[in-house]
Amino acid sequence: MTDPAFDADTLRERALTTLTTARARTTLLTSCVEEPDLTAQHSPLMSPLVWDLAHIGNQEEMWLLRAVAGREAMRPEIDGLYDAFEHPRAERPSLPLLPPAEARHYASEVRGRVLDILESTAFHGTRLTEAGFAFGMIAQHEQQHDETMLITHQLRKGPQALTAPDPDPVPLFTGPSEVLVPGGPFTMGTSTEPWALDNERPAHRREVPAFYMDTTPVTNAAFQAFIADGGYDTERWWTPEGWAHIRQHSIHAPLYWHRDGKQWLRRRFGVTEVVPPDEPVLHVCWYEADAYARWAGRRLPTEAEWEKAARHDPASGRSTRYPWGDADPAPEHANLGQRHLRPAPAGSYPEGESPLGIRQLIGDVWEWTASDFLPYPGFQAFPYKEYSEVFFGPEYKVLRGGAFAVDQVACRGTFRNWDYPIRRQIFSGFRTARSAGDA
Ligand code: AVJ
Ligand code: FE
Repeated sequence: MTDPAFDADTLRERALTTLTTARARTTLLTSCVEEPDLTAQHSPLMSPLVWDLAHIGNQEEMWLLRAVAGREAMRPEIDGLYDAFEHPRAERPSLPLLPPAEARHYASEVRGRVLDILESTAFHGTRLTEAGFAFGMIAQHEQQHDETMLITHQLRKGPQALTAPDPDPVPLFTGPSEVLVPGGPFTMGTSTEPWALDNERPAHRREVPAFYMDTTPVTNAAFQAFIADGGYDTERWWTPEGWAHIRQHSIHAPLYWHRDGKQWLRRRFGVTEVVPPDEPVLHVCWYEADAYARWAGRRLPTEAEWEKAARHDPASGRSTRYPWGDADPAPEHANLGQRHLRPAPAGSYPEGESPLGIRQLIGDVWEWTASDFLPYPGFQAFPYKEYSEVFFGPEYKVLRGGAFAVDQVACRGTFRNWDYPIRRQIFSGFRTARSAGDA
């Protein structure tokens, strides 16, 4: 590799800092509430926080101490408890889980040994250690569970446990509401990003016809206009599955919203507040995003359209790592890493915009796309089938771009997330698109 950002010393340093950053966040998320809140199940959709904590340690032990360093299992009897496929989330509170103090101790024992082997592990020779991949994968895994734990915090009833400063106020965005992304091929996915996960690989050419893309995510004000226009009561905006779902579950607004006379309020990390009109809409399911887009005379972008908008540089013809170029995310580019506990107003982060002027593709809210979660041509499961391969198929929709709850180690222009189209406890929003041939 010739890129100096990817040389072995830089990657070893990056492995250390990303693992340390992840652990600081895990510690915050598991120490800001009392013990009963760590073992309770706040929603059947989620694990108890103490499960995530020990699962983080267990995966780190499995991949870094056992697979990379060849060590014996520290506590083989607990592996089954923390195997996500053996026990669905709803079952986890009834398992004999390690109590909080033991879970903390186990995770920190594992980490201590990992820091020892990090120094002595060569960053080449096997696919698992090439460019420090396994260390990067485990830092991403911990951060993904930190996001999961933040979702649990948001579901939890009771007073505020977490605080963070709000994003800086910005002048109202006055740019165009959409831009034309010219048609033609672009390079989707990556074969060179050292810590890209299996589903982001390999790089391949994709033909994407011309389309128009929203310059910002859809805002709460725009979504309120859909609600006010009877959007949730008008069958023709919905797919049959979406209509059946919102009827059956009496869904009339995004999750966490309720009406107080004339205004919409929402609950956010234990605080009730007026829904801010300029912020990207959050906590909508795929069906709601899809219905809104149809009401607006538009549609969700496909995954390929989203990635072309985020990575294709028309000047060079290359695909960049991020909309702003190849530099790692900095605070002026995007709202990432739980620096804030909310998305920033639509039109924020001018320095993070794409060459065509599309903003907030990275950070703020995960963006639903029209696409099913499918493998790229030439996909190879690595290092385990249960990361991506077992989820491929039409039952999952792809989300792109990350959210305020996502750390930069787990966020790239190529990064793919997926979930069921009914899910809305995740930090999900969307933007819309239309084909260039359409009026
Ligand atoms: C990529 C967010 C769908 O949380 O289920 C964590 C990430 N995989 N542990 C999930 C993951 C294994 C995964 N998502
Ligand atoms: Fe996991």
